[in-house]
Amino acid sequence: MKLAKPPSAMTLAQAKREHTRLGAEIAAHDARYYREDAPTISDAEYDRLRLRYGELESAFPELASPDSLTKKVGAAPSEKFAKVRHKVPMLSLGNVFSEEEVEDFVARVRRFLGLPAEAPLAITAEPKIDGLSCSLRFEKGQLVQAATRGDGFEGEDVAANVRTIAEIPARLKGEPPEVLEVRGEVYMTHADFAALNARQAEAGKTLFANPRNAAAGSLRQLDPNITKGRPLHFFAYAWGEILPRPPADTQMGMVAAFKSYGLPVNPLMVLCHSAEELIAKYRSIEERRAALGYDIDGVVYKVDSVVLQERLGFVSRSPRWAVAHKFPAEQATTILRDIEIQVGRTGALTPVARLDPVTVGGVTVANATLHNEDEIARKDVRIGDTVKIQRAGDVIPQVLGVVLDKRPAAAKPYVFPDHCPICGSAAIREIDEKTGVADVVRRCTGGLICAAQAVERLKHFASRNALDIEGLGDKQIEQFYHDGLITKPADIFTLEARDKASLKKLKDREGYGETSTRNLFRAIEQRRAPPLNRFIFALGIRHVGETNARRLARHFGSFAALRETGRAAAPGSEARAEINNIEGVGEVVAEAVADFFAEPHNEEALDALLAHVIPQPMEEIVFDTPVAGKTVVFTGALERMTRDEAKAMAERLGAKVAASVSKKTDLVVAGPGAGSKLAKAAELGVETISEEDWLKLVGRA
Ligand code: IVH
Repeated sequence: MKLAKPPSAMTLAQAKREHTRLGAEIAAHDARYYREDAPTISDAEYDRLRLRYGELESAFPELASPDSLTKKVGAAPSEKFAKVRHKVPMLSLGNVFSEEEVEDFVARVRRFLGLPAEAPLAITAEPKIDGLSCSLRFEKGQLVQAATRGDGFEGEDVAANVRTIAEIPARLKGEPPEVLEVRGEVYMTHADFAALNARQAEAGKTLFANPRNAAAGSLRQLDPNITKGRPLHFFAYAWGEILPRPPADTQMGMVAAFKSYGLPVNPLMVLCHSAEELIAKYRSIEERRAALGYDIDGVVYKVDSVVLQERLGFVSRSPRWAVAHKFPAEQATTILRDIEIQVGRTGALTPVARLDPVTVGGVTVANATLHNEDEIARKDVRIGDTVKIQRAGDVIPQVLGVVLDKRPAAAKPYVFPDHCPICGSAAIREIDEKTGVADVVRRCTGGLICAAQAVERLKHFASRNALDIEGLGDKQIEQFYHDGLITKPADIFTLEARDKASLKKLKDREGYGETSTRNLFRAIEQRRAPPLNRFIFALGIRHVGETNARRLARHFGSFAALRETGRAAAPGSEARAEINNIEGVGEVVAEAVADFFAEPHNEEALDALLAHVIPQPMEEIVFDTPVAGKTVVFTGALERMTRDEAKAMAERLGAKVAASVSKKTDLVVAGPGAGSKLAKAAELGVETISEEDWLKLVGRA
């Protein structure tokens, strides 16, 4: 396939020609599809055309004239937003709740950097806005793209809606860098939220639960005219790609620069120099919270120096150089009407409290988790009790305890079931072989015969961070499973063919129609070549979350390679050691991977699935560094940087860091006192260099 030129590399005239040609082509396909019912291209090809059309418009807003296909009412709806790959991932923040944890954060930063107690360390403090993050891309000062965070790597292009936000300039003032990605929070004020809900009520429409949901619902509106009627605001606080270079070398300086370009920034941000100062600022912001007029849910601390931020880097999805100090959770009391047992993907039985609905911090809560059997017993929670519940941010509300003097006389202690409420199999608490202690979680032993587990696995498979099949949410999976239409992942990909052959059409089902069926099939079609890491995550192997799925995908490169090693990974085998040795992966994961591939049903389900799906090698950021792709081992004492920092630096430069020396090691960096690893390197003939040489090699000497 001929690769299309990226819009950023095109002139307006070139883009205009292509835009016009695409417009005619799309209109012709629309006519064939809608009027003649005789499409001549596949849905995937059609989507590619539309995507490209939208991309050209995002890059050249002047092309988006009122008669553009993207604006036309009644045109083939662009049911979805175009996807945007973030050049620099949009990550999240770790949370802390107590003052000790703030002190730990500062101490951790100092330790990582090897900063002595007397060396100054500047850290900013600013409100954590309770909205949704958005990345705005300006090229030559002009707003060309605006993307939601999505899964952190890929978001949705909501530029059309962002253009309706009055305080975001379409063109920046001053002299911004050539390319500037500004990140910040889109939010709604309390006053606007109240007015919007009043209008919704008047029109008989559903109300929004809180300003954040209202902001999210408004930004992710397919019709920008609706967004326009819902006033949104923005605070800039971070950045992504900047070319040729950032305008400042501190967090404070960067935010000041954003302000000078005409972007709104939060006035409460200050510079602090110790944990005590941070905590004092936290208290003062907390005191002002109610009067701000918009929701905040904590205070964010960031190391001020950009150089130090880079040295500190990231762990998994959160920066080491920043943390969110959350406000305490909100609490309320209500009556517990029932305890229901939910069965999860791995068979875990989770007790859920059904409550008399109560508002906690602006959100109505009717369910809360009771965690597990031991927690119910410890708190002696009984049906009919008045319970205290707590809600913190996005976390599922939890039952904290019982108001004993309100206990009804007839309330009896709760007996936790020892059988799965769905499939009836025994539910047991596994005993740890080494410690002899029973697991806190009781699990259904029904495995593949348990419908609940099967449904939960399917939900996970199609979910947003896994295969991300739009239109195949929890509710739809439950229905399809119930009707026998989808009982295993492979069935998703044969759904359309079976529907064509069947008399009972999907489009005739309640809640479906021509359009939603077509959209669903199209969404499925688009997922036949998923990125390998998403595919691995989607399989729901125990202990393999998104991060481990990435590690496995990166290490093995193809699903076939992972499968072959997984199959051979009996305890003590070389294959087991290979998995175990992947940086960040340990024996628990290695065992879970081996168990997964040792299960014949899983193998069968995989064969069926791989007949329809071809996982693609992960899209890697291409590193152009002397150590990219190399496996490095650090050993001995390092003098210029801490071990953690060395590791983080190597990873940032595209190297893999391993814990032990093997045939696969490319380079050993040895400091004074290096012992057995150095000997092993010599034995295997692996290149060994000093810390100084390493720093020279990576250009940091
Ligand atoms: S900094 C690399 N600053 O909180 C970290 N985030 O829980 C960049 N948020 O995804 C984020 N106010 O949506 C930062 N002043 C602030 C924030 C803030 C709200 C959100 C943001 C982020 C989430 C993480």
